[in-house]
Amino acid sequence: MTEEQKKGILVVSFGTTYNQVRKATIEACEDKIATNFPAYEVRRAFTSRIVRGILAERDGLVIDDTAAALLKMKEEGFQEVIIQPLHIIPGEEYHEKIIKEAAGFKGYFKGLVVGKPVLYSTPDYLQAVAALKAQILPLEEGTAVVLMGHGTSHPANACYGQLQLTLLDRMPGVYLANVEGYPQLPDIIPRLKERRAREVILMPYMLVAGEHAHKDMAGDEEDSWKSILKREGFAVQIYLKGLGENPAYQDIYVQHVRDCIGGEGR
Ligand code: CO
Repeated sequence: MTEEQKKGILVVSFGTTYNQVRKATIEACEDKIATNFPAYEVRRAFTSRIVRGILAERDGLVIDDTAAALLKMKEEGFQEVIIQPLHIIPGEEYHEKIIKEAAGFKGYFKGLVVGKPVLYSTPDYLQAVAALKAQILPLEEGTAVVLMGHGTSHPANACYGQLQLTLLDRMPGVYLANVEGYPQLPDIIPRLKERRAREVILMPYMLVAGEHAHKDMAGDEEDSWKSILKREGFAVQIYLKGLGENPAYQDIYVQHVRDCIGGEGR
């Protein structure tokens, strides 16, 4: 490796318009990656056009999408690029806005690899559940946790099923429901009753506690998860932190970058 070889890591996430939350989650992950790989320059891209539009207009904060960021890196003479998504599952975002866009840049760099999202192969699930334990203390009887996943119509929605199975084995009392795709909140309420839970802790299973967590999960509207569970007779506690704030999840991304350097990216 010669001195002039410019190496970069492009950290790609959906993005968020919540500035404080962005610092605590996305930026914290980017910083952790930068600290662990000092030979690489860390760059940022957001996939959401809506989020990028709001940030540009409201805050004057211009953030590239994957393709624009890669083009800049090419123009600035980067030779080796690792793209590390902060996504949870290999769903539509991962395939359409990262893998597909990266494919168009294959010939532009000596090396271009894409890292895995949080949930990919079986060891990832075990690690993800172990990392969640760092956030959720052992549950007392009568208490359950409901994780709000995003969910998708993409076949990768099945990842949430594998996560739920791993949780059943290793963290009994933790259930997952999705905003989109199966299962949804009404599907898991019978499980909460089966467990004789009186208290339910609601927590986003997303990188960022943004719009879905604040409104759909913890909002005061009558169709929020908090309101629905209260009507079902549960005491509800809100845990409003995204996975990106959890150092153990930050470490998963660091490991997935390391896998790319070791030749295990795609
Ligand atoms: Co959404």
